[in-house]
Amino acid sequence: MSKSISDKVVRNHSDNTPFSEILEKSLSRRAVTRGSLGAAMALMAGFSLSACGGDSDPVTPTEPVTPPVTPPVTPVPELKLGFQSLANSMTDACVVPAGYTAQVLGAWGTPLNSNAAAWDRNGNNSSNDLLNSTGMHHDGMHFFALDGSATEGLLVVNHEYIDEKVLHPNGQTGTGAGQKRPVEEVRKEINAHGVAVMHIRKEGTSWNIVLNSKYNRRFTSATPMRLAGPVGGTDSVKTPFSPNGTQVRGTNNNCGNGTTPWGTYITAEENWASCFVNTGAVTAAQKRVGVSTAKGRYLWETAAGDVTEQNGEFARFNITPGLGWENEVNGFGYLVEIDPYDPSSIATKRTAMGRFAHEGAAYGNPVEGQPLAFYCGDDSRFEYVYRFVSEAVWDPKDATRTDRLNVGAKYLDKGTLYVARFNDDGSGEWVALVPATVGKGGKTLGAEFGSLEAILINTRGAADFVGATPMDRPEWTAVHPTNGDVYLTLTNNTSRNATTGTNAANPRLNNANGHIIRWHDQSGTNAFRWDIFVFGASDLDNADTNRSSLTAVNQLASPDGLSFDSRGIMWIQTDNGLDGGRNNNVAKTTNDQMLAVIPKPMSESTGTGPVINASNQADLRRFFVGPNEAEITGVAYSPDNTSIFLNIQHPVNWPAYDTTDATVVSSTKVRPRSATVVIQRTDGKPIGV
Ligand code: FEO
Ligand code: CA
Ligand code: CA
Ligand code: CA
Repeated sequence: MSKSISDKVVRNHSDNTPFSEILEKSLSRRAVTRGSLGAAMALMAGFSLSACGGDSDPVTPTEPVTPPVTPPVTPVPELKLGFQSLANSMTDACVVPAGYTAQVLGAWGTPLNSNAAAWDRNGNNSSNDLLNSTGMHHDGMHFFALDGSATEGLLVVNHEYIDEKVLHPNGQTGTGAGQKRPVEEVRKEINAHGVAVMHIRKEGTSWNIVLNSKYNRRFTSATPMRLAGPVGGTDSVKTPFSPNGTQVRGTNNNCGNGTTPWGTYITAEENWASCFVNTGAVTAAQKRVGVSTAKGRYLWETAAGDVTEQNGEFARFNITPGLGWENEVNGFGYLVEIDPYDPSSIATKRTAMGRFAHEGAAYGNPVEGQPLAFYCGDDSRFEYVYRFVSEAVWDPKDATRTDRLNVGAKYLDKGTLYVARFNDDGSGEWVALVPATVGKGGKTLGAEFGSLEAILINTRGAADFVGATPMDRPEWTAVHPTNGDVYLTLTNNTSRNATTGTNAANPRLNNANGHIIRWHDQSGTNAFRWDIFVFGASDLDNADTNRSSLTAVNQLASPDGLSFDSRGIMWIQTDNGLDGGRNNNVAKTTNDQMLAVIPKPMSESTGTGPVINASNQADLRRFFVGPNEAEITGVAYSPDNTSIFLNIQHPVNWPAYDTTDATVVSSTKVRPRSATVVIQRTDGKPIGV
């Protein structure tokens, strides 16, 4: 996300905020008990609960029995962070703890195959170069091992948006009133967006792209994709390009990501709406997502009519009624499934999972015979958090099938989308967005919106109608690998004021620093319990702001990227530029960062938090600080956790041209490049411990 493609417009005009709530109310409630939920979680928990033990004590036998012979048990060592928390840094380079290295990998414009010319430091690469290179503004990503290898795999990276000034030699042209954008510039911008699949291999201690690998692939804002699920094939998505409504070209503004238990990648379409313009009558659904009404964000529509235009490739961004492309926009706003292992596969938009500013998708730990759940944030002020539950129940054999997109169709095309209501007392419920659900005035969603397809296309409107809880900009979700607790970053919301009110899950007025909330679903029901994990803090001396008692070595604001590694370390990344930049006290003292923490399970807590407080704040440690003005986002791990990958997005003057060492400060002014950074230990051992 950045200030250039996101805005502060509040598009949620529902009255779902409980206006009567006062600021401190939730924090004074500490009497919540979890009862049977705690026991259920204990059963699900793995190593992190192994020390608790009490729930599973064996029944004392009434007669002496011969103890069975059991093999000696090797105790699992307690997981502990093993690095010193980093100080604040304003260094224009990457900063890592002592004993760690940081390498630049796959910076914007790095060729994936020989059809691309090398990156040009003056911005002269062509649209074809971009089609065969890494794109701009790296975001969510995942490492898919090849044959289980820890040193060779497919790194799949989102390219969220572009910096037009940096992409072209002298910025965009043809942007004046009545002018047309040059088609080559537009195609270059379209190809700089999307997703890259990079075959990478560790050679010695450095990771390199395998040039010309059959796996290397780009998806752009023009790549044909399938529209599956309830919206696919309906009248709402029929266009001149796809008269039967089963395809659409491109994926736009791919922010966070997800994966599936069957080895596919999910890319999330976030700030796509304003790429489209409607200068005529705007529908309620278009208004609710923020379709442009004067001009598209990049003016791609102005290239329409060029003699080289293929099948309305530019005209489709103008969705004004009467021009033929009214339905094009209904093909965007989804989670898109990609099979990185099959280079001939077609990316597929899973419309059953809702249409909004998708930030990512984390799945709940699969249980055989139970439906799968995916958790998704909608990143805008006062928007909601969603859960998709599959109709099909989990069959572990599906994890190893090779027809992965058929497995995706089985679990992701049929199911129920829910939206969250957070109650003050630490309870919550998931409300189904289906025609039968009763909303405002006793009216059903079906009576208000019509079919399931119509509900999904206007997901936000449907969520308004059933009284979902407006949140402080839901970004990434992450699920603990053994106990199943779900965490969500709420990045910030300075529009939350006395008029809009607070609610218990979003308890701070003018929430400039954000917080992280977590919950645990009650198995087999639509109920959950929640608490706040940590509050970001700008002013360390202000107890009202600094509710988690953060210090100079773990102060954070605007949490965004969030992920658990396989061991149970949670990594938190920040994007602290949007709501104030260097005016914010955290941004005045440190660049954006990544922190680590090993959370205790929800079953060990009571009340609504915060879990991180004066008694334990030192457990939250700063692991990484990025270069000036850059956001830290996206995280991936080699299977043995000896390499951790993260992305530097929209730096202002980084990396240095002549080194792949991410810690080197540029001595001259450079054309900045978003890039992946790989962090390893010099002794080759697992990261963080
Ligand atoms: Fe692209 Fe919500 O950050
Ligand atoms: Ca971003
Ligand atoms: Ca963000
Ligand atoms: Ca983000």
